[in-house]
Amino acid sequence: MSLPSGVPLELRLRRPMEADHPRLVAIVDDWWGGRRLHDLLPRLWLQFFTGTSWIAETRDGRLAGFLIGFISPDDPTLAYIHMVASNPELRKRAVGRAMYEAFLQDVAGRGARQAKAITWAGNTVSIGFHLAMGFQIVEGPGTRQIMGVTAFPDYEYPGEDRVVFVRGVRPPS
Ligand SMILES: CC(C)(COP(=O)(O)OP(=O)(O)OC[C@H]1O[C@@H](n2cnc3c(N)ncnc32)[C@H](O)[C@@H]1OP(=O)(O)O)[C@@H](O)C(=O)NCCC(=O)NCCS
Repeated sequence: MSLPSGVPLELRLRRPMEADHPRLVAIVDDWWGGRRLHDLLPRLWLQFFTGTSWIAETRDGRLAGFLIGFISPDDPTLAYIHMVASNPELRKRAVGRAMYEAFLQDVAGRGARQAKAITWAGNTVSIGFHLAMGFQIVEGPGTRQIMGVTAFPDYEYPGEDRVVFVRGVRPPS
């Protein structure tokens, strides 16, 4: 059942655990509107990346969202968000923002100075969300206009175009 949309959500953010994996893979395709996304969420993300990832829950323990992210082992100044999603019944209620802010603040404290994420060129919701969260779309060599947005054609695989987002991460004051 949806919560009334005008009521501010009381969210609890915590680190995920491996035991959360079945619960997340069970909903991930549905939360992406029926796309086959569970392939992108193998158990390893809940085994080795929990220290930089987040789960958001409502006060009564409902899953409100999750964010899987990490700091690059190759470049410790770069943080990367692999997946983010909020519960479709709680969209546009600042769940995604709360998780991104927690992630960015946390990785900033650990030395990250830039954050990166990618999305499918047709995911207008994700594009709007990332722009609202202060990300910029990477332009320049290798990009093309795809579905009305600047994207890298064949980024993942022939036909798998991606929009690449970056933003600065401010060091803690
Ligand atoms: C993208 C997603 C995580 C946004 O989560 P959310 O909890 O609804 O987002 P929030 O309510 O925290 O919104 C944060 C900002 O994004 C903007 N935003 C959210 N949904 C948007 C949409 N559909 N279109 C444009 N902007 C949007 C909001 O306006 C808000 O900006 P503001 O704070 O300046 O008003 C959610 O829609 C989702 O889970 N989508 C399916 C999964 C997905 O595509 N993930 C991203 C790719 S990995």
